[in-house]
Parts: sequence; C-alpha cells; structure tokens
Amino acid sequence: MKNLLLIALSFFIFCACQNKVRYESFTPGELWLDNNGMHINAHGGGILYIDGLYYWFGEHKTEGEAGNVANVGVHCYSSSDLYNWTDEGIALSVDPEGSGSDIEKGCILERPKVIYNKQTGKYVMWFHLEPKGKGYKGALSGVAVSDQATGPYRYLKAVRPNKGFYPSNVQEIHKGVSKAEGQSFSGASLPEHVDSLNILGRDFAGGQMARDMNLFVDDDQTAYHIYSSEENSTLHIAKLTPDYLDYSGEYGRFFPNRFMEAPAMFKKEGKYYLMMSGCTGWSPNEARSAVASDIMGEWKELGNPCIGPDADKTFYSQSTYLLPVQGQSGRLIYMGDRWTPENAIDGRYIWLPVKFEGERFVIEWESEWRL
Ligand code: DGJ
Repeated sequence: MKNLLLIALSFFIFCACQNKVRYESFTPGELWLDNNGMHINAHGGGILYIDGLYYWFGEHKTEGEAGNVANVGVHCYSSSDLYNWTDEGIALSVDPEGSGSDIEKGCILERPKVIYNKQTGKYVMWFHLEPKGKGYKGALSGVAVSDQATGPYRYLKAVRPNKGFYPSNVQEIHKGVSKAEGQSFSGASLPEHVDSLNILGRDFAGGQMARDMNLFVDDDQTAYHIYSSEENSTLHIAKLTPDYLDYSGEYGRFFPNRFMEAPAMFKKEGKYYLMMSGCTGWSPNEARSAVASDIMGEWKELGNPCIGPDADKTFYSQSTYLLPVQGQSGRLIYMGDRWTPENAIDGRYIWLPVKFEGERFVIEWESEWRL
C-alpha cells in the first residue's frame, strides 16, 4: 500500500514538473504553450493537413531588436485537435552567418507556407525572402522541398515571379515604356497615380516583385501563389507548375492601387474568397475581403470582414491563413498575427471562427471559444 502511494505521488510530481497544459478551447491573444511549455513560435504561418494531423509552419522569431530578421528559420508544430501543439523543430534552417547564401542568418524570411504535391510525393515550402542587409527591395519568392512534412526542407532557389510573362488581364499601358524605370520606392513615396507608372512593365524582364504571400491548392490540385506585387500596390495570383516548384507563366493582377498585404484564400461551394490587410507595416489596420467565381477573376471586393469592437483594426492582428477545419464542411478558422516588433518572439496568435452572412464571410471577436 505504502509503495502504491509512493508511486502515485511520484507520478503526480512528474506530471506537475512537466508543466503541461492541456487546452480545450482557443483563447486568442493569450500565450499559447506547446508540449514543452514554450509559447508557440510560428509567426506569419500557415497550416498543412495530411494523414490526420495538422502541421503549423511559421517564422521562428528571436528575442529583442533583431527579432524580425530570420536568425533560426521556419518552425514546425503538429496537432490532431488544433488546440494542443507538439514541437516538431525547425523545418527549414537558415544558413550560418557569413555563408553568403540567399538564406543566410540575418535575412528576412516571412510568411512560409507548405503544400503537399500528390504527384511527386514532395512537401513544398514557399516563403517571402529578402536577402540579408538589403531591406525589402529584393521582393523574392523562396522555394524549399522535403520528403517529410516536418522536414528538413532543402532550400532550392529564390526567384522573381513570371519573368517575361504578361498577366492574362494585361493592359496596353503595361506594354509601353515604364515611368518607374530605374526607380524603387518605399510604400510612402509612391504617388497616388501609381498605376500610370507601369511598375509591371518595369519588372517585366526581371520578374515581378513578390512580398506578403500565401499558397492555395484548388480541388483539381492546381496550386497558386498569391502575393503583393508592384511595390505592394497590386495583388497577383500566379498558377504554379504541376510539381509546385515554379511559376507556370499564367497569372493575373487584381485590386490595382489598393495596397493589400497578408493575403489568405479559401474556397466554399465553388466560390473563392480572399482576405487581405491594408499596408501599414507592423501596425494593424482594417482588413478587406473579396469573392470570385473564377480564381483568375473578376474579383469583387466585399469590404471589411471583421465586425464588432476593434473590427477596424482586425482585432489588433493581421491575416496569415484561413484554415478549413477537417471533417466539418464549411467551417473555417481565421488565423492572424498580433505582431510585437519590439520583441517579436512575444507575438500572439488571434484565431477566430469564420461565419457566413449572405454572400460574405465575417469574423467577430471571442475571448474564448471551442470548435
Ligand atoms: C507587414 C507584412 O504583412 C509583414 O509580413 C511584414 O512584411 C511587415 N509588413 C514588415 O513591415
């Protein structure tokens, strides 16, 4: 009896020491601990669902000032219930300082997303890459590949999209001389008549700019890269090659001059939906949404999908992914980042249920909720 008591007591102490939290609800904005008791470190992330498990990939942030540059890489977590996450380690590591590689420690590596290619059996990661020390001028798309969901991912390349291709909805002005030739802009320095500069034409030969991004795989397994282009003024949706490793050359440009970042897409009952933010750096702003019957347009804007208090600031967050819940048809989760640039590792996750009202989707604040 005494032995049994001792065993029970040891087990209790063991469990307590593990500092394990078992979640049964979402509490947006609170610390969210993984299986090791550490706040989840996967910012600007997205989810891959395969074989009964969700895999969350995101930017691994570090403490303090240099927190918004990539010092470590892309972090991966897995979960079967979306509440409790197991640390699967670093899926894509940055290369050591001084290596001169595109993904050298200190580069900017943002918004990583992973999709699975059924034809090749490969896991393919895309991310926004800015080579070290060059600010946000590079506007490149990075690609990495792995045989396993959790990695390690092998870095393949970083490219500017659709070099030498015009979009399917090209206008005559894009084929003429670009008034933006040889010029680069910071967001604030772009004139209001940005369209007349013909930034698309400026980047035709060298490839289009690609910053904030997402991936979307359609029912027929065609994959698309969605990214802020043309100095962030216009969103592009580009079809990838069947192996998901490159651009096919087919793309469209949408919402010209609307300066949208943080795109996230989902499909429901044959319609495509987009959520985006405005363009205000790390500060939250009012989100936008849009709907289309064809992914290559026409897209119709539906306004701010957020409703209720703090809707004008997207509940102090910025979209990163719209996650379909498996086995619950039409049920989606809004995944957003509440950025803390002064200490990036402390960034919080705002996950909220997506609801439908007529032709639009809406998101409302809930401090605690369950699926
Ligand atoms: C907002 C973007 O959405 C982020 O991914 C990041 O690029 C910051 N801007 C940088 O200011």
